[in-house]
Amino acid sequence: MKRIGVLTGGGDTSALNSMLYGIADEAHQDGVEVVGFMRGWAGLLDSGQYAVLTADMIDPGLGGTLLKTSRTKLAKIEGGYEQARANLSALGIDGLVLIGGDDTIGVAAQFQHIPIAIITKTIDNDVGANCPADEPLDFSKIVNYFTPGFPSAARRVAAFASWHNGVQTTGYSHERIIALESMGMSAGWLALAAAFGHPDFIVVPEVPLDYARLRDGVARKYAEQSHVLVVVAEGAVYTDGTVISEDTTNVDAFGHAKLGGCADVIARRLKADLGGQLKTRNFNAVIPSYLFRCGAPTALDKRIGTKLGRKAVRLLLGGKSGKMASVRRTGDTLRVVTMDVRALPRDSKGNIVPKRLDLRLYDAENLRITSEGIEYFKPILGEMPSSMGPAKLVSRQTRV
Ligand code: F6P
Repeated sequence: MKRIGVLTGGGDTSALNSMLYGIADEAHQDGVEVVGFMRGWAGLLDSGQYAVLTADMIDPGLGGTLLKTSRTKLAKIEGGYEQARANLSALGIDGLVLIGGDDTIGVAAQFQHIPIAIITKTIDNDVGANCPADEPLDFSKIVNYFTPGFPSAARRVAAFASWHNGVQTTGYSHERIIALESMGMSAGWLALAAAFGHPDFIVVPEVPLDYARLRDGVARKYAEQSHVLVVVAEGAVYTDGTVISEDTTNVDAFGHAKLGGCADVIARRLKADLGGQLKTRNFNAVIPSYLFRCGAPTALDKRIGTKLGRKAVRLLLGGKSGKMASVRRTGDTLRVVTMDVRALPRDSKGNIVPKRLDLRLYDAENLRITSEGIEYFKPILGEMPSSMGPAKLVSRQTRV
């Protein structure tokens, strides 16, 4: 192999440049040139948009992607596959690394004339497969223990929910009820990571929300401590199946509903129901949105991202195709391994089935993380930190 191509598609994450760095550096060691296509599959349309990538151009500690990204779906573009194939052969590309989620990597089968290596990525952590639900929970059976970019976003969610760097201090000081919205269209992995900031309740898309239960729980907690923090995943739904998020009419280029605003909905509903009953009218929504996705990778994301990039190049140079560089946990150790892309479960239409939260990690009764959930996050976020809340004050009225 003399020349390989790479592209990044879908939402950006903090670990993309680390992967690109690993790819460029590893390829260079074998004298292989790397061509980076700009803006995902869009870089292979028309006469192509690309740049030769070398490791010294890439800062692995910078978030986002040097190659930029888009949600271009080749299947939706007339002649899209033909243009992409023509560009690949005109440029003499001998192998391709695809970095993306289902919509980016799902079309790999259309390019059987060249070897393809895949690295999945999404901050939502929803590409892969859980340990089968009918078997004892075994973390080593998870396909894609996490998707690169997830650890950095998980750390941010936990920080936003924490006393140390997050909303808890204002919640406490103003005796507020706060709904903090986490990203996660169809999976609650990110919302669950907020547990490391010690919120009072976590609502995930996998378990439809019994609103009355949340409302009563919030009222009880408020009576106890005079501040409450609820974390809600953007894809959360009510028990009748309706999406909590307000705007479901908005769709992205892949045709997925763009969700957002469920924290506002929850804060407003709680205010309407509890505003007269509790001694506060302070019901607020906090929606960090892209702040979850942007910024520098954590040390883990940077290290694993670079290794995944290197592994993808080794797969191509080893003549492998249809393989995925992914993360596996054995004991407390994370390793970069090769998986067959067929290990990703697909539905009858051939779409990759999202890796939703393993419900053994979530206590649906009390809307919080389980001890197994804490264990899942151990190699990603470390030990559960202490809550760092303020000392309990004993209020006393003093008359002079
Ligand atoms: O990367 C996945 C994700 O972060 C979702 O959680 C979110 O809904 C979506 O991307 C939004 O991204 P964009 O606004 O870029 O389409």
